[in-house]
Amino acid sequence: MNQLKCIGVLTSGGDAPGMNAALRAVTRSAIFRGIKVKAIYRGYKGLIGGEIKEFQTQNVSNIIQQGGTIIKTARCPEFETKEGRKIAYENLQKEEIDALIVIGGNGTFTGARIFAQEFNFPIVGVPGTIDNDLYGTDSTIGYDTALNTIIEAVDKIRDTASSHERLFLIEVMGRDAGFLALNAAVASGAEAAVIPEIHTGEDQLEALIQHGFRKSKNSSIVLVSESNGGAMAIAERLKKDHPEYNPRVTVLGHIQRGGSPSAYDRILASRLGAAAIEALLDDQRNIMVGINNDSIVYVPLVRAIKDKKSVDKTLFNTLKMLSI
Ligand code: F6P
Repeated sequence: MNQLKCIGVLTSGGDAPGMNAALRAVTRSAIFRGIKVKAIYRGYKGLIGGEIKEFQTQNVSNIIQQGGTIIKTARCPEFETKEGRKIAYENLQKEEIDALIVIGGNGTFTGARIFAQEFNFPIVGVPGTIDNDLYGTDSTIGYDTALNTIIEAVDKIRDTASSHERLFLIEVMGRDAGFLALNAAVASGAEAAVIPEIHTGEDQLEALIQHGFRKSKNSSIVLVSESNGGAMAIAERLKKDHPEYNPRVTVLGHIQRGGSPSAYDRILASRLGAAAIEALLDDQRNIMVGINNDSIVYVPLVRAIKDKKSVDKTLFNTLKMLSI
């Protein structure tokens, strides 16, 4: 795009560690390329409300290591309406913003795609969500940090689980995706993962019982994805159908979204933020920048949202094999 003079950048949806690193990379790469940067506070909410401020390089100093997002985030039902999006477009015009970079997950990109089509406005998405549920990128910003937070918590729970010889069901986030549960289960040496993607034909809970939670072990840890009622639902069923078990439930909750980003997430965010600016300069629009086999890739927004990213079924079997 040869008339790219000014870009807007926002973070939206659930925050993820590394969003600040991505904001820093977008801001500094743009300024390096002679493009003005305007930060939009509170995601689409701030776009509609006109909460927009020009950023210089120093506005993003000392944030690469910070969790959360310094420009705030929000979920914005108003942006789902035509009227809301029209106001957002008018504000972009008023601020003379030529293109938008949105850092967020599935909901953020869904809104971005509709907006881009409606107003023929160039948008590039940077994947920032702990869920890792976006098609076309091996990893999303925040996922690695969240995994590390989970395994640190599981390691601690394991101490009490083994002291009391108990079964623990630990619920993790991921909305409708099991990447966090499955990968954290492997990384923490858990006995099993209950995730929405695996329907082997047998009931997952019954399968766990049949294979034996305990066997030679004096404690068991199962990671449960938050979907379908999460760990509480499994615990209730377990107590009802198999009263010999008396499981404890831990819901890790929003602790998974906080904390300083890992080295992997900082580097990923820096690469993707810079790539987003290059994409706009190359006239690419309505795409997501992603990472595939350690190379930057550009994926149409529609595919990132609609195509299903599958969990690694082999990893599920590996987990089963290693938990004997
Ligand atoms: O998308 C990120 C995520 O943390 C999901 O894992 C979770 O289901 C959801 O956001 C929780 O959203 P909120 O913080 O709005 O309750």
